[in-house]
Amino acid sequence: MTSFHKAGATFFAFAQAFDLRHTPTPQQAAAIEAALDKYGVVAFRNQAIDGDQQHAFTGAFGKPREATFKELGSANTRFVDIGNVDYDGRAIGPESLTALYMRANLLWHTDGSFNEKPTRYTILHARELPPVPPPTEYADMRAAWDALPPARQAELVGLRVVHSIVRSREQMGMTADQFTADTLQSKPPVEHPLVRRHRLSGRRSLYLASHASHVVGWSLDKGRALVEELIAYATQPRFVYSYDWTPHDLLIWDNSRTMHRATPYDGPHPRKMRQSGVHELDVV
Ligand code: OGA
Ligand code: MN
Repeated sequence: MTSFHKAGATFFAFAQAFDLRHTPTPQQAAAIEAALDKYGVVAFRNQAIDGDQQHAFTGAFGKPREATFKELGSANTRFVDIGNVDYDGRAIGPESLTALYMRANLLWHTDGSFNEKPTRYTILHARELPPVPPPTEYADMRAAWDALPPARQAELVGLRVVHSIVRSREQMGMTADQFTADTLQSKPPVEHPLVRRHRLSGRRSLYLASHASHVVGWSLDKGRALVEELIAYATQPRFVYSYDWTPHDLLIWDNSRTMHRATPYDGPHPRKMRQSGVHELDVV
C-alpha cells in the first residue's frame, strides 16, 4: 500500500511502495499530488527507470514540458540534463556556456519562474552519482510566509515581481550577448505575484527566485532590496531541508511553494541528473 513518510522537516516526504517502472494510475497520481500539496517535495528512492518511464511518470501530472534551452544543448526536448555530463555522456567543460548556464542552479530558485507559465512540478532523477554526491537544498516558502508577522504579510500581499532569465544569469556573470537570440526573444521578462495562493490547499506562500528582479511600480533598487531581503529570510536554516541523494532516487517538487538550489560539485566523477516537468496551470 502506497504511503508517504515525513522526513525531519515538515515539507519533505518519502514515498513508500511505489515502482515507477509502471506509470502511476490516475488514483496514484492524485495521491502524489495530495502528498505534494501537504509536503512540497516527495522522494522516491531507488527507482531504476529509463527515459520512457520518466516521461510516462511526468505525463501522469500533465503534458510534459518541452526543454527548449538552446544554451543547454540537450539532444532531447523531453529532458534537461543536469550535472557535469551531457546527454551523450560527454563531460561538460567547466568553462563551457552550458556549465555557466547550469551554475545558476547554485542560486536559490524555483523552476521556470521566468516563464508566463512556470514549471508546476519538477521531476529530477539521479541516473549516476559521484561517490559523495552534492546535496540539493529545498526551502519551504509556505512556512516562511506563515512565520511572517501579520502586519508584514499585509504589506506584501498584492505586490507583483518581475522575473527574467537574464536576471539569474547576470548574477553568474553572463552577459546578454551570451544568450541565443531565440532565448532573448522567446523569454521576455514576466510578472508574477509575490505571494501565491496554492491552487489545491488555498495556503499562501512567498514566490521568489534568482530570476526575480524587482517589484512592479517600485524603483529598481527598492524592489531588488526587498527581493534579496525576502530570499535571505526564507532560506534560513529553519526553513531549509538538505537532501542527500542515493543512486536512482527520483524527486518531485511543487515549484509554487518551494525554492531549491544545487550545491557545488567539482568532479571528477560523473553526476548525471535528468530533469522533466509539467507547466503551471495558472499563476495565482
Ligand atoms: C533542477 C535543479 C539542482 C541540482 O533540476 O531544477 O535546480 O542539485 N537541480 O541538480
Ligand atoms: Mn532548478
